[in-house]
Amino acid sequence: MTSTQNPADKIIVALDGMNRNEALAFISKLPSLQWVKVGLELFVNAGPEILEELRDKGLKIFLDLKFHDIPNTMSATCKCVARSGAQLITVHGCAGIKALKQSNKAASEGALEVGLPQPTLLAVTVLSSWDSNNFSRDLAINHTIKERVIWLADLASKVGIGGCICSPQEVKILRKLHPEPFQLVTPGIRFNDDQLDDQSRVMNPREAIDLGASRLVIGRPITASSDPAKAFRRFCSSLNSDYD
Ligand code: C5P
Repeated sequence: MTSTQNPADKIIVALDGMNRNEALAFISKLPSLQWVKVGLELFVNAGPEILEELRDKGLKIFLDLKFHDIPNTMSATCKCVARSGAQLITVHGCAGIKALKQSNKAASEGALEVGLPQPTLLAVTVLSSWDSNNFSRDLAINHTIKERVIWLADLASKVGIGGCICSPQEVKILRKLHPEPFQLVTPGIRFNDDQLDDQSRVMNPREAIDLGASRLVIGRPITASSDPAKAFRRFCSSLNSDYD
């Protein structure tokens, strides 16, 4: 990234394990925060109103509810959430071509109806909790995880979805196959001295961005830190040494 780019725009902090009040108290500690991830836990705990509250604080929202349903239901839901102003919205790539196409169109229409910019749908490829043994056994899939990730990213790109979620290990190959503006959003980011938590395949932030990640999703290294503002600054500085 260039020295003029603000690294805070590359970091999405996952507000996991929080209720409404905790989430609002947490973000008040990070004045330079730009992006937050609202996942199922916070969304169900706090209700959809949390999205407006976060937007009112000037934050950009990555809504990670991982939609997967029949095309009609999935696209109607995408239309609704696009009206909430979420700028990044996850859908499961394995929902298939018809559901992805219809959802992408519906999300654009939803945002347009309320005069908001078009959100970007991100296709979930393979959740990082799968390992190669249970993936093929439980799902009867003959692809390796890597092949499956490539396949679903390709499907998403072909139908006009704006990007995908992938692990840091797949960033390099996916960036080669799908140049910008296709977005690669990547969890599993740690400094070498961070705890791994339940992440098994991690990468440091600088390397993930250098390999082509568009944005990094970071949770516990910031949210569970005794000094979240300092932890956030450390991630930003690692992406741009001019940041302080
Ligand atoms: O591990 P961390 O707290 O940084 O997680 C940030 C995000 O990464 C979580 O919100 C979750 O969506 C995702 N995650 C993942 N695989 C895991 C654990 C978390 O992709 N094993």
